[in-house]
Amino acid sequence: MFENLPQLPADPILGLMDAFRNDSNPNKIDLGVGVYKTEQGATPVLESVKLAERDILELEQTKLYIGPAGAAEFGTAIQSLLLGENHPALADHRVSTLQTPGGCGALRVAAELVKKASPDAVIWVSDPTWGNHIPLLGDTGLQIKTYPYYDVANHGVNFDAMLETLAQAKAGDLVLLHGCCHNPSGADLSQQQWQAVTQLASEKGFTPFIDIAYQGFGTGIEDDAYGVRLMAEQLPELLIASSCSKNFGIYRERVGSVIVIAKNAEQARANGSQLARIVRGIYSMPPSHGAAVVAHILNNDNLRQHWLGELDSMRQRIFQLRGQLLAQLNKKDASSDFSFITQQSGMFSFLDISPAQVQRLRDEFSIYMTGDSRINVAGVNSHNIDYLSSAIVSVL
Ligand SMILES: Cc1ncc(COP(=O)(O)O)c(C=O)c1O
Repeated sequence: MFENLPQLPADPILGLMDAFRNDSNPNKIDLGVGVYKTEQGATPVLESVKLAERDILELEQTKLYIGPAGAAEFGTAIQSLLLGENHPALADHRVSTLQTPGGCGALRVAAELVKKASPDAVIWVSDPTWGNHIPLLGDTGLQIKTYPYYDVANHGVNFDAMLETLAQAKAGDLVLLHGCCHNPSGADLSQQQWQAVTQLASEKGFTPFIDIAYQGFGTGIEDDAYGVRLMAEQLPELLIASSCSKNFGIYRERVGSVIVIAKNAEQARANGSQLARIVRGIYSMPPSHGAAVVAHILNNDNLRQHWLGELDSMRQRIFQLRGQLLAQLNKKDASSDFSFITQQSGMFSFLDISPAQVQRLRDEFSIYMTGDSRINVAGVNSHNIDYLSSAIVSVL
């Protein structure tokens, strides 16, 4: 049965992880995988998560199934975190929220809903976008097109070209936007640009689909949700895929949610029933533990404050690292302009060097990043910053 199936090449990011693991150079640096790291290069469990897990271990009464939509208290807490407590869409009962296995699960389930509602829909994704968007969304059979986003020359968003292309999107199409901390470029839309895309969506009738996987890593937990909240208020329909992997540091627990904003409460109930049916036909129900941790943290004042403090220190550390990396690069090579590193936000930036230069960094210095020169800034620390900046300058 399987003999026609050839071996596939390794996933670029997972393959990079393997190559890094097998590299014996003691100075090796991993800037590839998008996970937060401390000064010591570790990705520990957050204290707030440990405390919540301790409570859950004591309080949990049953391991019964939780149902396709997941835990109601998780859904309520996560939609408030994204939309804010008193968002009009919540007051009008236009929101259906479903717990999913990670942000990836949310993206896929949302795409399956679109496939049911509008099988000929085109999903417009930014060029470039996170590598897994295309398999997650495209494997449903929906058509994927790209819109220009990142401009290498300016190291920022090419907003005019983006709007010009999105003007071709039609009613029934989806436009995938990164809620904050664009992956891979770190270049985000300004508030005025979010307003302009909202206006265009309203004129053209396309539906925005916001993937938000880094809330709290950009400018702060509330500010990072600006685009989500604006669009949820001003547009009749909106899809959101959110992930708790990064901001709660619970990557392997697989916690995310799909949130669908509908025209009215009746349609929201119908959308909720459709989402549950889709999930029933794929994995039936999400895992419980990680979402129970998130709900417990968000619904407990002390734990919530503790978590917000931890999230804030992760965000600030990345912000400081951006400044330190820029200072080192400037010191070592005054002729190149890397100032964009401090203008971008979240975990990622492009170095905007060529694939050949990326390869040299890997071969000659054991510094690992994806071929497009995306770096995970959180992989930088006081022990490796000197070696890293000298290596970058030497391949320029
Ligand atoms: C842009 C973006 N969206 C979604 C995800 C999904 O995250 P997960 O499925 O691990 O929650 C990621 C993870 O790297 C991401 O970078």
